[in-house]
Amino acid sequence: MRAEKFSLTTAVLAAGLVAACVPNEMPEASDGRALFMENCAICHGADAKGNGAMARAMQPAPPDLTRIALRNDGDFPRVRTLSTIDGYAKSDMAGPDMPEFGALLEGDLVPLDTGDGVMTPTPRKLVALLEYIESIQVSP
Ligand code: HEC
Repeated sequence: MRAEKFSLTTAVLAAGLVAACVPNEMPEASDGRALFMENCAICHGADAKGNGAMARAMQPAPPDLTRIALRNDGDFPRVRTLSTIDGYAKSDMAGPDMPEFGALLEGDLVPLDTGDGVMTPTPRKLVALLEYIESIQVSP
């Protein structure tokens, strides 16, 4: 009896440990949308079409992020877009009303296949933003 109870407890504990080790779910477009509103909408606009509050004063103007694929012959350039966002995260743009882009690199890494079949550990928030931007592409 005693032994049975013990092994049951052990099994439950072990199951819990296994669950804790399973990688977290991949970020989704909805996670990226929240990050976009916080960090990017000020220039690119809440609808990502390039008319944020700071856009008017900018040269070049922030591009319409819903048309990246259209501008690229209908193909969404994941690697190029990711490296653009990664560039923000590593830049030290600063100033009044400017978001703290460095925080985009905080948090865990998730495996991302950017199209070459290789899983690259990539900061979760960057992947979330990439998923969001890909999700809002207009079709031709
Ligand atoms: C300070 C204003 C500003 C903020 C904030 C900003 N951007 Fe941009 N973004 C720009 C401008 C301006 C360009 C165009 C740069 C150029 O053409 O050299 C651009 C270009 C881009 C591009 C390239 C578009 C293309 O056609 O390939 C992407 C992707 C992008 N931004 C994503 C983001 C994301 C994601 C965020 C939030 C993390 C963000 N931007 C925050 C101003 C901004």
